Amino acid sequence: MRLFDRLFGLFLDWSMRSRIIARERPTALKDAYGQVLELGFGTGLNLPYYPSAVTALTVVDPEDLLPDRIEKRIAAARFPVRRIKLGAERLPLDDNTFDCAVSTFTLCTIPDALAALREVRRVLKPRGSFLFLEHGLSDEPSVAKWQHRLNPVQNVIARGCNLDRKIDFLIASAGLEIIRLDRFVAAGAPRILSALYRGAAVAAK
Ligand SMILES: C[S@@+](CC[C@H](N)C(=O)[O-])C[C@H]1O[C@@H](n2cnc3c(N)ncnc32)[C@H](O)[C@@H]1O
Repeated sequence: MRLFDRLFGLFLDWSMRSRIIARERPTALKDAYGQVLELGFGTGLNLPYYPSAVTALTVVDPEDLLPDRIEKRIAAARFPVRRIKLGAERLPLDDNTFDCAVSTFTLCTIPDALAALREVRRVLKPRGSFLFLEHGLSDEPSVAKWQHRLNPVQNVIARGCNLDRKIDFLIASAGLEIIRLDRFVAAGAPRILSALYRGAAVAAK
């Protein structure tokens, strides 16, 4: 593995383990159940937060940044974990397969997030749920202005991460029906990263 990938993996793992993010994961994942699909697995930081109702997990991520840490975390999981090292825009998975799908801090980074969400809708069983916890475009015009301005910089330093995606709009545009949405500011995070979207949508078919 290239040194730069390793360093980026360590940075990602450290930043995504921050207290500000860790405290939001349990609420976001508490309703996960059955066969679950996770987009953008990263370094596997959601694993300890899945409730006992989860029976199996399939994860999709084109990167494999810290394979040693990821394997250890998978080995400690209570349920089987299947990894697919591909982008979520085109899933090699059958229609109507999953009870639930999850994305945490990933819709900001997937190059074609709308295509990935359409795939989520396709592979979810009818009325299956999509649980999300994401940062995105702020409702405050002064913050949004800086999010747009700094987006090209964020894109480079955080490998494709966007500051200014309107997450609820993307989810609804993919034909998922949002049934719960909490919009809030994560205390302690930089303003351009602190506009959070947490909620649930269902695959209306
Ligand atoms: C900020 S990290 C979040 C990781 C993890 N979800 C978490 O909450 O800790 C974004 C993740 O999206 C992944 N990613 C990038 N492009 C993707 C794609 N096309 N499909 C799925 N995941 C992708 C990255 O490799 C990275 O692991």
